[in-house]
Amino acid sequence: MPDIPSYRLFESPQSASRAVADDISQLIRSRDNKGKNTVLGLATGNTPIELYEELIRLHRAGLSFRNVVTFNLDEYIGIDREHCESYWQFMHSRLFNHIDITPENIHLPDGMVCADDIESHCSTYEKQIKEAGGIDLQVLGIGRNGHIGFNEPGASPDLATHVTQLNEVTISDAAAAFGGPDNVPQYAITMGVKTILAAQRITLLAFGSSKADIVKRALTPGITAEVPATYLQSHHNTTFFLDQEAGEGLN
Ligand code: F6R
Repeated sequence: MPDIPSYRLFESPQSASRAVADDISQLIRSRDNKGKNTVLGLATGNTPIELYEELIRLHRAGLSFRNVVTFNLDEYIGIDREHCESYWQFMHSRLFNHIDITPENIHLPDGMVCADDIESHCSTYEKQIKEAGGIDLQVLGIGRNGHIGFNEPGASPDLATHVTQLNEVTISDAAAAFGGPDNVPQYAITMGVKTILAAQRITLLAFGSSKADIVKRALTPGITAEVPATYLQSHHNTTFFLDQEAGEGLN
């Protein structure tokens, strides 16, 4: 039986981001109290920017990330860490440089790993997630084509971290940031659907009317590889945090 994710509608991206940040803060504090680390799966893109701002605000108000371990969903292949569009750069400038996380606890796939080593890099990433105790909470965005991470339409549900070719919608959405579609990397390393579905909890954020159709499809019963976000219907603890515009197609 599919388990349609629940959803919560908020007035604005900011109020939704606040709710997710509060949720993450409670999770960290409750695990801290039990002497446990918190393992977060993190996303990049426009959607989580305000969430990261809220987490920085909570940190300034006393929330510590000393016992937090992070794993990012994905990274472009062929993009150096120092490149302004690398996800390593994004995460450091938007979040990690402003909180007390231990650098050793930060994990992102390495987009510059040489071709011969990519497979072992991906399996090491999976091993690191397992050794950390698995992901307690995975934050996701959603592509207009229904991708989660860079699991593009047609993605298998059986893959763990792997190399993927970016879909044309993904490339066109990234084109402005790279100064044209021809400059957008064609490939990325991404956690697979299998990795994502192994998280204890999943929180998907979607904002704006450009996401309304795909959000509606993702929440309509029926799992299909053509809309990878529908795989979330086979996860028992997923919630969509939406603003009014992204939720406009829902009842
Ligand atoms: C980012 C990622 C992608 C984005 C998605 C939405 O790490 O894995 O799946 O979450 O493309 O991007 P934005 O938020 O820019 O609309």
